[in-house]
Amino acid sequence: MTITQESPSAVSLSTLLREGSTSEHRDAEGSSFMTELLAGQVSAEGYAVYLSCLRRVYAALEGAAATLAADPIASAVIDPSLERLASIDADLAFWGGPVEHASPATDAYVSRVQQAAGEGALFVAHHYTRYLGDLSGGQAIGRLLARQFELDGAGVEFYAFPAIPKPKPYKDAYRERLDALPLDPSQQERVLAEVKTVFGLNGALFAELTQQLPAWRR
Ligand code: HEM
Repeated sequence: MTITQESPSAVSLSTLLREGSTSEHRDAEGSSFMTELLAGQVSAEGYAVYLSCLRRVYAALEGAAATLAADPIASAVIDPSLERLASIDADLAFWGGPVEHASPATDAYVSRVQQAAGEGALFVAHHYTRYLGDLSGGQAIGRLLARQFELDGAGVEFYAFPAIPKPKPYKDAYRERLDALPLDPSQQERVLAEVKTVFGLNGALFAELTQQLPAWRR
């Protein structure tokens, strides 16, 4: 048996992912669809289309999670408390959806999730990018939306995690689980590369939705 000596990674995986995707994150934040949505300028129909796209993404994510439940890497992050499908369905009922809507960006995103489901570490990249985002910026987005549309819980369940009353300690524990994954530096780089890809897929979805903003002015 050969013993390979692992060179210690300079930074933890959680830091690598956060710091390595800062510019991708900035791009996602700056998308016109998001800016207009948060300014209260997108109609209920536009928001229902967005949620309908997200529904397909989360169905793929949560389907993949079910198949990876026993995977030694993916199971470190999978947690039913995070599941969003039921809350998206509740929101869709509120916003008048689901909307049947051709979305090549969603098709591409879903097929990437399905591919990643073949390898626990790549799935972690998808899991991290959506769920840690939902528990971070997503919380502020939910509050802004509720204010713009004068909502009181109904319609913005997607942003509410009743089983996670305090996102901060949850995110800290999540990062500790990431950091404990037995991934060597080159595997960690692959996870980061996939995270960047996932940001790009989200950005492409926003770009597609931005094209349709003129029809959704409020
Ligand atoms: C207007 C849009 C957005 C805003 C205002 C926003 C804002 C934020 C903020 C303020 C944080 C840091 C919160 C903290 O320190 O706890 C954060 C973290 C994060 N966001 Fe966003 N975000 C947006 C869009 C997105 C999108 C589209 C994604 C990906 C789909 C995303 C993924 C993430 C992730 C993964 C983190 C966690 C980073 C880490 O700590 O490792 N965000 N976001």
